[in-house]
Amino acid sequence: MVSQSPTRPDIRELRERFEAHGQGHVFRFWDGLDADARHRLEAQAASLDLPALVRGFRATQEPLAATASLEPPEVEALPEHGGDAARHREARERGEAALAEGRVAVMVVAGGQGSRLGFSGPKGLFPIGPVSDRMLFALQAQKIRRLRERTGAAIPWYVMTSGATDAATRRAFEADKYFGLPPGDVFFLRQGMLPSFDFDGKLILEQPDRIFENPDGHGGSLTALLSSGALDDMRERGITTIFYYQVDNPLAILGDPILLGFHHGAGAQASCKSLRKETPEEKVGVFARIDGRIGVVEYTEITDEQRNARGADGALRFSAGNTAIHAFEVDFVRHVAAEAERRLPLHASAKKIRQVDEHGTPHDPSEPNGFKLERFVFDALSAADRVCVVEAPRDEYSPVKNATGADSPATSRRALSDQYRRWITEAGLSPPASDHWIEIDESRIGGPDDLRTLGLEQVGDAPDSILTRPGDDA
Ligand code: UD1
Repeated sequence: MVSQSPTRPDIRELRERFEAHGQGHVFRFWDGLDADARHRLEAQAASLDLPALVRGFRATQEPLAATASLEPPEVEALPEHGGDAARHREARERGEAALAEGRVAVMVVAGGQGSRLGFSGPKGLFPIGPVSDRMLFALQAQKIRRLRERTGAAIPWYVMTSGATDAATRRAFEADKYFGLPPGDVFFLRQGMLPSFDFDGKLILEQPDRIFENPDGHGGSLTALLSSGALDDMRERGITTIFYYQVDNPLAILGDPILLGFHHGAGAQASCKSLRKETPEEKVGVFARIDGRIGVVEYTEITDEQRNARGADGALRFSAGNTAIHAFEVDFVRHVAAEAERRLPLHASAKKIRQVDEHGTPHDPSEPNGFKLERFVFDALSAADRVCVVEAPRDEYSPVKNATGADSPATSRRALSDQYRRWITEAGLSPPASDHWIEIDESRIGGPDDLRTLGLEQVGDAPDSILTRPGDDA
C-alpha cells in the first residue's frame, strides 16, 4: 500500500495542472478519500496527457469545416463488375509471394464486447460455427493455421484486446491451447483508454476516486501497436505489412492475397477492402475522396443526398462500403502512431455515462449526459500518399453486430454455411440436403481447391473436416 499526503509537491502540481485546464473538480472528493483511493486517482490523473486531451476534445466540439468536396474513389472492381481478371490474377500471385516470404502479419481488433448481441463476454468468444458452435477466435485461428501451412511462413497473429476483453481473451486462448497455433506466434496487445467529458466539457467522475474511461476505439490499435512493442517485434520478424481485420466478421479471408497483391503492386501505404453497397440504407461507412484524399464517411455522418446519389448508370455514387479490412505498411503505422494527435483525431458521441452526484454517489443516467471519445482506424488513410481500394465479393462480409435482424448471428451462420455449400459444389461434390447446416474445418480446407486436393468421393468421407447437421432452421 502506498500512502500519499495531499500536500506532496507532485500532487499539488497535478491538481494545479487540472485547475489550469478547467478540470480541478476531478479532485473535489479528495479530502474524504483514504490513502489507497487517493493513490488510485492520482495515478489515473497523472497518466492523462491533459493538454492534448482537452485540445482533442475541443476540436470535436467545433463546427465542421466548410463542406469538404466528396468524390467517389477509384476502386479495383471485381472482374464480374468490370474489373480486369488478369490484374486480379497478378495481384493474387504477388500477394501469395509476399505471404510466402514471411512479410505479412495478421492483426485482429477485438476490444469490443458482445453487449449489442446480448452476450456477456468478449465478442471473439461468441459461438459462431453453424454446426460446432466454435467461437469466432477459433474459426479465425483455423484460417491462420491453413494460411501458415499453405505459404510455409509463420504469419504471426496480433490480437488487440481492451481492458474489458483482455483477461477473458487470454484465458480462452490458454484453455484451448491457442487453437493449435504456436503461442510464440500469437501476440496480445491491449488498446488504450480515453476519458469522457460532460456537456460542459468537464471530465466525468464515475466514482469519487475514478475518472470514467472507455476503450479508445479501433484507431487505438495503431497507437497500441507502437506502445506495446508489437511494431518492434514485427521488425525483428521481417514483417513489412499488416493485414488488419475486425473480430466480428467470420467471412473475412485472413491474409487475403488479392488485397496484399494490389497493395504491394501500387506501392500503397494503406489499402482497404470495400463491398458494393446493396441499398443506400446499409449500415457501413463508405470510401470517398474527401478533398482529394481517400477516407471513410461514416453511415451516421453522410447526408441523405450523398447517401442516395446515383450516377448516370443508376448505380449508387457512394457505393464502396467499408469492410474494415485493411493492409498497412509497418513503417506507415509507426509514422501515424507517432503523430496520433494529428493523424487520429478524437471523435465524440453522446452517451449515457455513469457519473457521481455531489455526494459522490454514482448514478446511471437515463439520458445521454456526456461524450465518449474514440479514434477511428480509417482516419489514418488520409496520412497515406497512396491508398488502394479493392472490391470484395459480398460473401466475404457478414458481420455479427446485432442480436437479431441484419448482421446478426443468424445471418452470419447462414452466410458461413452457404459459403461451405458453395465450396463443396465448386469442388464437384454433392452437397448435403438443403435442410442441412454445413461447417468446414478451415484449418484443413480453405476453399474448393483444398477440397479437390483431398480427392473425396463424397462429403461423408471427411467426417472430421466437414460437419453437417439437419435443422429446420437451415
Ligand atoms: C465499423 C465502421 C464502419 C464499417 C463497419 C464494418 C466505425 C465508426 N465504423 O462500424 O465504417 O463499415 O465497422 O463492419 O468503426 N473495436 C475495438 N475497440 C474499440 C472499438 C471497436 O477493438 O474501442 C472493434 C470491435 O471489437 C469490432 C470493430 O472494432 O470488431 C468494429 O466496431 P463497431 O463498433 O462494431 O463498428 P461499427 O459501428 O459496426
